[in-house]
Amino acid sequence: MDRIKKTFATCKAEGRGALVTYVTAGFPTVEATAGLMLAMEAGGSGLWPVKLTILDIIELGLPFTDPIADGPTIQKANTIALENGMSATAALKAVRDARKKGLKVPVLFMGYYNPVLIYGEQKFVKDCREAGVDGFVICDLPPEEAVKFRGFCNNEGLSYVPLIAPSTNPSRLKFLCSIADSFIYVVSRMGTTGVSGTLNAGLGDLCKRVHETSRNIPIAVGFGVSTRDQFVSVSQFSEGVVIGSQVINVISQSKPEEVNEKVKEFCQMIVGRDGEDSSIHEVGIAGANRKAKEPANVHPTSVITEKDVGPGPGLMDQLNALNIDGEANSQPIPSRFGEFGGQYVPEALMDCLAELERGFIEANNDPKFWEEFQSHYPYMGRPGQLHLAEHLTEKCGGANIWLKREDLNHTGSHKINNAIGQVLIAKRLGKTEIIAETGAGQHGVATATVCAKFGLKCTVYMGASLRILTPQRCAYLLKEDVRRQALNVFRMKLLGARVISVDAGTRTLRDAVNEALRSWVSNLSTTHYLIGSAIGPHPFPTIVRTFQSVIGNETKKQLMEKRGKLPDAVVACVGGGSNCAGMFYPFANDLSVKMLGVEAGGDGLETTRHAATLAGGSKGVLHGVRTYILQDAEGQISDTHSVSAGLDYPGVGPELASWKDSNRAKFIAASDAEAFEGFRALSELEGIIPALESAHAIFGGMELAKTMKPGEDIVICLSGRGDKDVQSVAEELPNIGPKIGWDLRFPVGSGSKYRSGISCMLRVGKKAS
Ligand SMILES: Cc1ncc(COP(=O)(O)O)c(C=O)c1O
Repeated sequence: MDRIKKTFATCKAEGRGALVTYVTAGFPTVEATAGLMLAMEAGGSGLWPVKLTILDIIELGLPFTDPIADGPTIQKANTIALENGMSATAALKAVRDARKKGLKVPVLFMGYYNPVLIYGEQKFVKDCREAGVDGFVICDLPPEEAVKFRGFCNNEGLSYVPLIAPSTNPSRLKFLCSIADSFIYVVSRMGTTGVSGTLNAGLGDLCKRVHETSRNIPIAVGFGVSTRDQFVSVSQFSEGVVIGSQVINVISQSKPEEVNEKVKEFCQMIVGRDGEDSSIHEVGIAGANRKAKEPANVHPTSVITEKDVGPGPGLMDQLNALNIDGEANSQPIPSRFGEFGGQYVPEALMDCLAELERGFIEANNDPKFWEEFQSHYPYMGRPGQLHLAEHLTEKCGGANIWLKREDLNHTGSHKINNAIGQVLIAKRLGKTEIIAETGAGQHGVATATVCAKFGLKCTVYMGASLRILTPQRCAYLLKEDVRRQALNVFRMKLLGARVISVDAGTRTLRDAVNEALRSWVSNLSTTHYLIGSAIGPHPFPTIVRTFQSVIGNETKKQLMEKRGKLPDAVVACVGGGSNCAGMFYPFANDLSVKMLGVEAGGDGLETTRHAATLAGGSKGVLHGVRTYILQDAEGQISDTHSVSAGLDYPGVGPELASWKDSNRAKFIAASDAEAFEGFRALSELEGIIPALESAHAIFGGMELAKTMKPGEDIVICLSGRGDKDVQSVAEELPNIGPKIGWDLRFPVGSGSKYRSGISCMLRVGKKAS
């Protein structure tokens, strides 16, 4: 921390802005990182003695699989670094190596919380101090969630740098300034990192507000600065300027043997230390920089002293700071379900989440809101049906199996309940645009539907991935997969939505969530993010569960009417957990009711190809929430697999995580093959083709029913209908069918070659057309 303070003090004394450059550790190679840091510093020996330092502070990026605050350039660098095997341990080694070779400038680690959490926060901070790291910028760890982490930083004398965004409200700004211990990172614009053509016109005002509020704390401005002109103009408002994406671009565009030299030249160009006027810098870089500035607008820089930056306030100070004026939320601590939940999001989202929470609390307490919600029941197809599945019950020979028919809802799944509810909240908040993510397409279609109905602009982000082909599946099926995806896209487009295919990362639902979050940060004032499951930062899990609770509430009432009692068990499939939370929550205090969640076991929990987050995952932070996630030993998010796209997600709602830990609910995994058994049983015995997601619950419910007595009652949430999955089932049958003795194939031509029925029909259809 001291090194950072001294750096800003020196820059002040020299009358210049500090240059802070970012590079992702492990990009372009693990071995290059230490050398690149030295190259950035090159030209002098840092601060001792002050000579020709080109840059003043290095931000070393700790790569993460899901960097929601970063744009494509840094995201790509993260992906490459991870492929190269970069880890927190390797990044520490790079800093240690660079220090051994003489690196003097302060080094900040910039990254995301989960890898730090998994490393062990205390050990990480300690190891950082030993390696020569000076502080941290952790994009998704706002101070409310960082109380423990800041304590560790204080103990080791390292800096926790708070971020301030254009959306930060005055009371929060005051709070953030009050905890700054070395400098404040001001995010220049709403949105992600990346090179931008123009700078935010309000930046000067924002910096002025921060200066006035913080008094003597220096600020560094980042996000969107890439040229010398921008460096010079931003230096007028701030004590430091951060350049990131453009450094990554320079590295990407250089030959491996020239990378260090090119980066050094770039830094020289930014600070105006080119060959021609290098003599000026020999005498003092300060003069050259003063010359480059517009004297009229120069904001007084500052020197920070020890008294400005004591050890920092405690938790109560922080909470008080959040309540300085009436604007702050009346419920300052983010809601949690036991240890799960929270708001692990970039600073830019904090204010918007508070607005959403206020809007939701007001609506929830307003009977008129619920009247309006219920006035749309005829459109949604509510109340839903509850009926006995007689043949399924008979087959299992145990408890009565009842089906809660969410598949009969408008748009074919439970997703419409949440879509209507959130759109009504968005309208109350005056939002005119909706963004959403979708995996199976069901939430995308539900969102596009309600946007059409309520006249809102709609953009849906969708993972671009194709289902993985097995050797048995011929090349022409690839085309069919594209066609199937195109159909979902077409459905949403028919409804007037814009559909954005996310071709980044693993190209699945998780990347669609990343993109939706990024897009939301850029357009907060007009846009509501209509999240499709009980996931994400507070208040989303509570909002989604509240609207989906119609499932459990109706079930309770309807079974009472039919059987005069509560069910003995309720069962639901679990992707992010919205239909499950909606079914379970109304029964959570009825302890006689067993609650069974069924996750996607894919190829089996013993393999890496599954999406069973609760049954096979561990605690961590993803997409703004602390919950169970699927991750590796380094805290990087794992790729998932399920035959059903709607369950193919490496996180889960925090309320489900707390039910698991308190043993209130049990969570099991059904493999792809077992889901097919459920799919087949419901289709053949009840004449209902379920969604593949719901088929997991059917299988779990059947197994549970077998263990229960006749006369007992179990209700399965049939979350969606199977029309969307018929083709997937046909395609997977050659692989999965033999495992469960299910063969719908027709013999084709002579010999023993078989083709699944629908493939055969599609072929015939193709020939005919
Ligand atoms: C029919 C159906 N059921 C279940 C799910 C899983 O979502 P959640 O766990 O949020 O209910 C999906 C997701 O797309 C779905 O389409």
